[in-house]
Amino acid sequence: MLLLANAEAWPGFPTTVEMLRSGADSLTAMVEGITKVEAEPRVRSVGYGGWPNMLGVMECDAGVMDGNTRQIGAVGAVPNTLPVAKLAHEVMKQLPHVMLTGEGARRFATETGFSVDDVLMADSKRVWWERLVKEMTPEQAAAFPDTPLAPLLKTITDPERVRDTTVWLSADTARGIHAATSTSGWAWKYPGRLGDSPIPGAGFYADSRYGAAACTHTGEMTIRCATSRTIVLAMKLGYSLGDAIKLAVDELNELTGGFLGGVVIHALDARGNHEVVNFQCEGEIRYWLWESSMPEPELRPARTA
Ligand code: GLY
Repeated sequence: MLLLANAEAWPGFPTTVEMLRSGADSLTAMVEGITKVEAEPRVRSVGYGGWPNMLGVMECDAGVMDGNTRQIGAVGAVPNTLPVAKLAHEVMKQLPHVMLTGEGARRFATETGFSVDDVLMADSKRVWWERLVKEMTPEQAAAFPDTPLAPLLKTITDPERVRDTTVWLSADTARGIHAATSTSGWAWKYPGRLGDSPIPGAGFYADSRYGAAACTHTGEMTIRCATSRTIVLAMKLGYSLGDAIKLAVDELNELTGGFLGGVVIHALDARGNHEVVNFQCEGEIRYWLWESSMPEPELRPARTA
C-alpha cells in the first residue's frame, strides 16, 4: 500500500493513513483526508484557507478518479460549498455525469445534504480587497463590481498567491490505484475559471493497470498538455515511470504563449514506484509519502526536472 500527497495534505494525511490501515476503501479514505485539508484555514490554497475570485467569491474545484473502473467525479467553480472533494465523490457515486460546475454543482450539493456555507474567511476577504483596490482607479473602485474585470486580470496575477492544490494518489495491489484533488484555484481568478484540479487527464488521472498522476500549480499549462493522462498513457505504451514523466515535462517545456509558470508532477506506477518532480516552481517542493512498511508518513523533497 502506498499513499502520496503534496505538502499541503498535512492536516488530513494521518486520517487517511489510519483509514487505509483499517481496510477502508481508498477513495473514501483520501476524500476524508482532503476534507480535513479543506477545513484547515492555514492551508492557503484549498477550501477555507484558499483565496476568492476577482469578485471576492470562493469558487472551489475538486476531482476523484477510481482507477479500477476509470469512473470520475468532478466539480468546478462551486460557490458556497465545502467539502468539495466529497461532493465530487458524490457526483461519481450518484450521477450518470462526470462533472458539474457552478450553480448546478451547488444545486446537487443541496440535494445531497451539503449546507450552504460562506467559505470566505474575513482575512482572505481583507487581502482580496486590498489587492484589488491597488489595481483599480478610484472610479473603477466606486463602480465595483460593475466594471470590466478582464483588464484587471492582466496586472493582478499574484505570484505570492500560488495556483496550488492538494493532490492525493493511492496504490494497492488489492484495492487498485486512485486519485483525488481539491483547490480554491488561482487567487483573484476571473469568475468561472477552472484550473486543472477538476479536469480529468490534466490535474489527475488513474488507471490501476498502469499508474496515476496528479499535478499542482499552473493548471493552465497541464490542461494544455493533458499532463496526467499523458503520463499514464505513456506507461500503458511501455514507458517507465521516469520516462513518462520526462515526456510530460518536455511537453510543458515546449509550450509557448499564454500563461506560463511552474508545475509539480506527482506520479506512481503499478509496480510500486513513485516520483514527484518540480518543473520550474520556485522554492523547495516537498510531498508526503506513506507505505505500509513505514511506521509514520515521511515528508520528502521533490526532484527538480
Ligand atoms: N493547479 C491548480 C489550479 O491551477 O487551479
